[in-house]
Amino acid sequence: MRDSLYLAKVAVYPGSFDPITLGHLDIINRASNIFDKLIILVLNNYRKKPLFSMNERVELIKKCIPDNNKVLVDSYTGLLVDYIREKNISFIVKGIRTISDFEYEFQQYLVNSRLINVETILLMTKSEYNFLSSSLVKEIAFFGGDISNFVPQPILKDILAKMDKLRLEVD
Ligand code: PNS
Repeated sequence: MRDSLYLAKVAVYPGSFDPITLGHLDIINRASNIFDKLIILVLNNYRKKPLFSMNERVELIKKCIPDNNKVLVDSYTGLLVDYIREKNISFIVKGIRTISDFEYEFQQYLVNSRLINVETILLMTKSEYNFLSSSLVKEIAFFGGDISNFVPQPILKDILAKMDKLRLEVD
């Protein structure tokens, strides 16, 4: 029962989301059932060159989630731990598909927990999204393949339009 001592559980779901996929959306839906508030945080991964700008990635996510106060979208250009400190967040949520995801996330957890006191909660992907990644979606779309089963329907046209533009630049 919620009383005045109840502390809202706020979690951040960080990622590149370049672009958001059905796998991400599944994690968002499931995490929003666990936490009182979920902030989807678009960050830059220095290992990857993003196709979509930060603002574009935020707008794409907004098109895919319900317009309410429980699930929010934000972006940040600094370290995840600094955002967590600024917003006083207690939980990080990440999705795990494979053993290599686990090793990567475990390393991130170890580093982040050296820098700040925060819990990381890993949600296992559903089997239908096990193979899915934003990079794969971009590659398939670039070569004209069908990505309609991989990305949320509201952003399908945006991704295809971006790919048309990219193809013109590459030619
Ligand atoms: O979707 P991704 O690319 O796997 O997400 C990785 C991301 C963006 C969460 C990670 O690169 C990140 O946290 N970037 C922000 C900068 C930062 O805090 N780096 C240190 C991570 S230990």
